Amino acid sequence: MNPLAGKHIVLGLSGGIACYKAAELARLLVKAGSSVQVVMTEAAEHFITAATMQALTNRPVATSQWDARESNAMAHINLSREADAIVIAPCSADFIARLAAGRCDELLSLLCVARPIARVPLLLAPAMNREMWAHPATQRNLAQAAQDGATVLGVGCGEQACGETGDGRMLEPSEIIEELEAFFTPKLLAGQKVLITAGPTFEAIDPVRGITNRSSGKMGFAIARAAREAGAEVTLVAGPVHLPTPRGVARIDVQSAQNMLETVDRQAQTATVFIATAAVADWRPAVVAMHKIKKDGSGQAPALSFVENPDILATVAASRRAREGDLYCVGFAAESDHLLEHARLKRERKGVPLLVGNIGPATFGQDDNTLLLVDSQGSHALPRASKRVLGRQLVAELARRLAAARDT
Ligand code: C5P
Repeated sequence: MNPLAGKHIVLGLSGGIACYKAAELARLLVKAGSSVQVVMTEAAEHFITAATMQALTNRPVATSQWDARESNAMAHINLSREADAIVIAPCSADFIARLAAGRCDELLSLLCVARPIARVPLLLAPAMNREMWAHPATQRNLAQAAQDGATVLGVGCGEQACGETGDGRMLEPSEIIEELEAFFTPKLLAGQKVLITAGPTFEAIDPVRGITNRSSGKMGFAIARAAREAGAEVTLVAGPVHLPTPRGVARIDVQSAQNMLETVDRQAQTATVFIATAAVADWRPAVVAMHKIKKDGSGQAPALSFVENPDILATVAASRRAREGDLYCVGFAAESDHLLEHARLKRERKGVPLLVGNIGPATFGQDDNTLLLVDSQGSHALPRASKRVLGRQLVAELARRLAAARDT
């Protein structure tokens, strides 16, 4: 299921302090099921040893086009023909300039030029000082390399090895893996604008207290990541959760159910798919105290009264765009028992074509889950798997349903 499983990646290292991160990247690629052939420039060998990279990938590192071990003496041809992708991480300013110029005077740039462009993608993870990154020559060379078929994965922003702060850091290995997984995922949701709610809501009682629940947001975040990997433009409306934003996903943080409704209402004007995974609080305190509610010494707890929150999913599902088929709505149901029965009823009550049921106590905060897909035809179970895998399965399912809806 992992798009990197079984892929053969040529991992090229050019010179830069970020070479130390390439060791972790190689490890993560191997862990994802890829075979990794490392190729290093002479400059890269000043920053990390070939022995480290060999030990992590279980393959001798290639460093020279004059390597006598290649029986045909054509390392550049052999290496580039085997690859499913060539990833340069770190990609130095100098290496970008070499690519832009089509230089072939050392093995790594030589094999990039020798690769069959239509079949072997070239992905670049640049890494350099912020001034070097901002230099017009670097940007010009990068634009040229991109125009010649390279995919630029972007850079991070922050503290640099030189002590300066700004753009130009290499992406973290986990971010590069995220980008590579997205790159290799079929674009089943290309052209779709997917809006997702995730996590709990927080309903304030006073300035320091409130009511929330134990939803971690993991399922919604996993769906957001999978939808982006599948080529959708994704907006994630998140309640208070401690999760990193999936790369390439626009995230809007909200607190209460009312905040969530306002944000979703706005975003739903242009979305084509709405997936409500958030565990929205059913009720909120009728009044939010201006000041912290104090104990008054009487031993009496304060009397709180509640009002019902708006049902975000039902509101969106009843909107004109949803009714006219321009916005496909998916709901979730976290139940403790009689899952199918509750999920069926909830689907009808919310007015959505697809409702995904799960057992609440078995999913909140967990990394894996089982799902039950309920529609007008019946139900279909997705067996226990990680939320990441279930997110991908759900996206594939969604793509099938959107295609079927388009064809009818
Ligand atoms: O009614 P219940 O909370 O079980 O419904 C669950 C589904 O409805 C989920 O998809 C949830 O995100 C959505 N929901 C909502 N707004 C609410 C309550 C639930 O969008 N106020």
